[in-house]
Amino acid sequence: MSASSSISDNDRVLIFDTTLRDGEQCPGATMTLEEKIEVAELLDAMGVDIIEAGFPIASNGDFEAVAEIAQRVKNATVAGLARTAPQDIDRAAEAVRLAARPRIHTFISTSPVHMKYKLQMDPERVLEIVTSSVTRARNHVEDVEWSAEDGTRTEHDFLCRCVEAAIKAGATTINIPDTVGYTTPDEYFALFQMVRERVPNSDRAIFSVHCHNDLGMAVANSLAGVRGGARQVECTINGIGERAGNAALEEIVMAIRTRADAFPYTTGINTTMLTRASKVVANATSFPVQYNKAIVGRNAFAHESGIHQDGMLKHTQTYEIMTPESVGVTKTALVMGKHSGRNAFRHKLEELGYKLSDNQFLDAFQRFKDLADRKKHVYDEDIEALVDQNLATAHDRVKLVSLTVVAGTRGPQRATMKLQIDGGRPVTEEAEGNGPVDATFNAIKALVPHEAELELYQVHAVTEGTDAQAEVSVRLSSGGRSVTGRGADPDTLVASAQAYLGALNKLLARGASLHAQHAAE
Ligand code: KIV
Ligand code: ZN
Repeated sequence: MSASSSISDNDRVLIFDTTLRDGEQCPGATMTLEEKIEVAELLDAMGVDIIEAGFPIASNGDFEAVAEIAQRVKNATVAGLARTAPQDIDRAAEAVRLAARPRIHTFISTSPVHMKYKLQMDPERVLEIVTSSVTRARNHVEDVEWSAEDGTRTEHDFLCRCVEAAIKAGATTINIPDTVGYTTPDEYFALFQMVRERVPNSDRAIFSVHCHNDLGMAVANSLAGVRGGARQVECTINGIGERAGNAALEEIVMAIRTRADAFPYTTGINTTMLTRASKVVANATSFPVQYNKAIVGRNAFAHESGIHQDGMLKHTQTYEIMTPESVGVTKTALVMGKHSGRNAFRHKLEELGYKLSDNQFLDAFQRFKDLADRKKHVYDEDIEALVDQNLATAHDRVKLVSLTVVAGTRGPQRATMKLQIDGGRPVTEEAEGNGPVDATFNAIKALVPHEAELELYQVHAVTEGTDAQAEVSVRLSSGGRSVTGRGADPDTLVASAQAYLGALNKLLARGASLHAQHAAE
């Protein structure tokens, strides 16, 4: 649907994306021409109605970007921003000239504080300029938007006079921005009702909201403006924009979709593309998306608490008001961590292909909880390492009870180890070594004297981060036979002891004799 045909379609809300203009305007969000084109093409494919591609007079780069986007975009209206000066308007017109649906968006401040200090003009002069600038823009294109900058701090009588003049001069869209993020939902709702009621020709234009997020109310204010009669929402992907940003497109669109009872409107947005759009814009601008950002934050569809995970496994609607698929996320993530319960852990094991007996499950669950206490993120690989090791050690004759290692720059390093052998009472030994691993292995040799030789010792991190689990492999050989043991633990020395004992247990299981050095304590 084109922007202008929507006047009669009362429920349809036009989405005007200004990521490339108001969004790009914020400090540090500059994009290259290629990045802007990528974003514009994605917005077009996603069903955005109007793409504000830039501010052509601002720089040659901005002009070029608007001109290039104007030619490439297939469905959306392409808008170029202009102040009221004739050269601004002419430059914007030139930039959007080749668009299938060109729009000039011109604006001037109307609030007392802006007119007095910024423009240094009296209201009557501003009113004259509203008429002349819109008329000039209309001589270039049929689709002209006029904005009353700082509209929410503008005196109502004056605002109504300006709006009437702009429509009379040919503006087809009237935008009343909350430039400084000052308004409240009730106030903004009433403002649109008031203007639409009082301005005699208001039925000849589409009204538009444009909200900044200084008080965190940009989305709520925008939706209130729509309830007040606006049918165009100006917003940006990820809510980027001046200062605290603009209303976030993805939040507006999903609020309308999810709460159709409260917001009985439609948009033309293919919501399954929202996540991709968020990532493309975050990459292009190098503005990371906060983890808990609504709709597109990486935690938006992640559940960690045991109670929530349990509920989600029983019925997704217990804790999800929209499906992850509806915004382009493949599936809900049950993040395994210290808050995860048995049900979620069992589900995760099934997903990973494990079938454990009740005892094995309880054992694995306990070890998972211990690990989660020590490690921030427990990844699938961590769980696999933990369960594999658990299964391998179930029939071990020699089991690690505890290990303490003193390491550092001043050697020799010392390891104190407690083992349980053949189910007896734990025995302890202390040993020194040339480094903490050597000391650990010497402690094992002291407790379980054996002939086996160490053939290989290898460590790698199972996952990323300094709290990653170390996975250690140890190969021992004895009597012409080689066996490998593996251990995984955030503590490399514990993993090393487990790996050594794993290999030793395999040798014992294959007939090697055991000479426990110590009597049980
Ligand atoms: O916030 C604002 O007032 C603007 C106008 C240029 C529309 O971005
Ligand atoms: Zn703005």
